[in-house]
Amino acid sequence: MKIEINDLRFIYPTGLEALQGISLIIESGEQVAIVGQNGAGKTTLVRHFNGLLQPTAGSILIGDWDTKITSVAKLASRVGYVFQNPDEQLFSKDVGTEVKFGPRNLGYSKDKTDELVKRALTLTELSDKTETNPYDLSPTWRKMVALASVISMDTPIVIFDEPTTGQDALSIARIAHVIAELRREGKTVVTITHDIDFCAENFERVIALSEGRILLDGVAANIFGQEEVLAQTFVDPPQLTRLGKKLGFKETVRNQEEFLNILRK
Ligand SMILES: Nc1ncnc2c1ncn2[C@@H]1O[C@H](COP(=O)(O)OP(=O)(O)O)[C@@H](O)[C@H]1O
Ligand SMILES: [Mg+2]
Repeated sequence: MKIEINDLRFIYPTGLEALQGISLIIESGEQVAIVGQNGAGKTTLVRHFNGLLQPTAGSILIGDWDTKITSVAKLASRVGYVFQNPDEQLFSKDVGTEVKFGPRNLGYSKDKTDELVKRALTLTELSDKTETNPYDLSPTWRKMVALASVISMDTPIVIFDEPTTGQDALSIARIAHVIAELRREGKTVVTITHDIDFCAENFERVIALSEGRILLDGVAANIFGQEEVLAQTFVDPPQLTRLGKKLGFKETVRNQEEFLNILRK
């Protein structure tokens, strides 16, 4: 499903203008990473997609729904949002109930709900933890519960806010697998990330925000080549991109596969 943002401005009650005119189209089925320094406005931007925040000026369309005249409850059927901090999101006494809450709340039949819950639990490797209280799980697994409880709603758009923060390598690989599966299903995925290597491995299109504006928007390979512009976002290019440059590669490499392809030439 398509997301269309027209000259979005947002001012917090403190008077801070966190978004200063953002215009952007994310096509149906696209996977996009949003990068940028702390305080750039990334979270403020995505919280507009499901109506948690309302524009001070401008508009956001989710498919053909204008978020200004659509309730948060209705938007929940189109936009799933995985919070950066699972503790802000999770509230049930066991994993099974937590993951079931969303689809049940959207009014799906029991059969459809059961099927969606099963798929979400399998994908996040939580099938053996349905009876566990999320708060008895490690932060790594709590993150998986947060992912599962959003994926189970089967929304056409899924937003991840800093999914890899504080996660170990195994968990990061699990999250990448979930994103790949959503891609295969044709979902629109928007991921905020500080982890530029994760971004390079998993996303084609990258949008860099700086001080409430779009600084760069394009194909990952082009963007990671523009070190001077990226420096303004305080985002370093991926390690392999930097290494490739040091080694004198003419092309910008983003990941292991591209790096190895050049070595093999
Ligand atoms: N609830 C809030 N009230 C006032 N200012 C806020 C609030 N949340 C965020 N901000 C400010 O808005 C700006 C953008 O924040 P945020 O969207 O969280 O950035 P990012 O996700 O890119 O780190 C920052 O300057 C931040 O301090
Ligand atoms: Mg944020």
